[in-house]
Amino acid sequence: MASASATLLKSSTILDKSEWVKGQSLRQASIVSVARCNSINPSALTIRAGSYADELVKTAKTVASPGRGILAMDESNATAGKRLDSIGLENTEANRQAYRTLLVSAPGLGNYISGAILFEETLYQSTVDGKKIVDVLVEQNIVPGIKVDKGLVPLVGSNDESWCQGLDGLASRTAAYYQQGARFAKWRTVVSIPNGPSALAVKEAAWGLARYAAISQDNGLVPIVEPEILLDGEHNIERNFEVAQKVWAEVFFYLAENNVLFEGILLKPSMVTPGAESKERATPQQVADYTLKLLRRRVPSAVPGIMFLSGGQSEVEATLNLNAMNQSPNPWHVSFSYARALQNTTLKTWGGRAENVKAAQDALLFRAKSNSLAQLGKYTGEGESDEANKELFVKGYSY
Ligand code: 13P
Repeated sequence: MASASATLLKSSTILDKSEWVKGQSLRQASIVSVARCNSINPSALTIRAGSYADELVKTAKTVASPGRGILAMDESNATAGKRLDSIGLENTEANRQAYRTLLVSAPGLGNYISGAILFEETLYQSTVDGKKIVDVLVEQNIVPGIKVDKGLVPLVGSNDESWCQGLDGLASRTAAYYQQGARFAKWRTVVSIPNGPSALAVKEAAWGLARYAAISQDNGLVPIVEPEILLDGEHNIERNFEVAQKVWAEVFFYLAENNVLFEGILLKPSMVTPGAESKERATPQQVADYTLKLLRRRVPSAVPGIMFLSGGQSEVEATLNLNAMNQSPNPWHVSFSYARALQNTTLKTWGGRAENVKAAQDALLFRAKSNSLAQLGKYTGEGESDEANKELFVKGYSY
């Protein structure tokens, strides 16, 4: 073993990233198996048997396909409880299953949705009619994904900030999720502007994302890299822009240091907006200008897709902002990975009643289609509800 490890170290020095990108060598997280191989046949070290590189690139491109985006339906059981409570339902597995069945089986959803992020429970769950949820998604031409982080906990030594758990055991979990049908992963960490952000919190967020991304790729899952810069705060848009530049610089520094294949990742950023408690409001054009300036400065064009979170924006606001970002060609697919901005009306319309399932699915399809049009830069507001039209009018968009 000692001599195998020595050979491994010696041989590793001659392998570079371009070989990894070609998918031919350096299985980084598998030192033991490489060493085992190497002790049998030293030349085996340079062959990355079973590399996922080509598949990762293909998966990322499929998710980032024109006119489509991601349905984030990966609420943890605690968050699902809050959503169900808002419509007077108990947080039981049966209620979560009924709601998630409604979402994934909306007819034709795959015309607008390319990927669905699931919570672990849903990856192993069946619909109310006993079909595997993963199979329903695949039939709809939607790639199943999985939330793999284990949530936020206080970051000791910081300014009351948090860090994201979940790296322990991640290699075996991602391997099992792949077996179960998942093809991409999500890890959400957060950065708080009012609390700093401290250099420690930003570094921890970026490093955790990079380790997660490398481990996910090693097990065949395209990592969605999500450092959510929280909307909370009174800061102006300029301050958000400054913080976002710092965060994305560190994220890409550590992604590169961890030899992550950029062609096989997707990003999930927050849009650059004023803080939720700021007196300043920004138009979709301003949000688009700041956000695209940030992305052009920080995101290599090798990255196939940018899938924004909605972060508490209203449904219409999230669609308008996305539409504004797609008025001229971008180096990457610029799209959505919304939870609340796709689901709010759907959930309310359903209200937990079987007779409302069709209307709720129609609401989901309408929002998905509106965002699909926004991905193509062609959203007009046509068909929006009276309430949404009022909001469009106030924002200066009347159709
Ligand atoms: P929202 O679109 O509701 O912000 O959620 C997206 C998400 O998955 C956050 O991690």
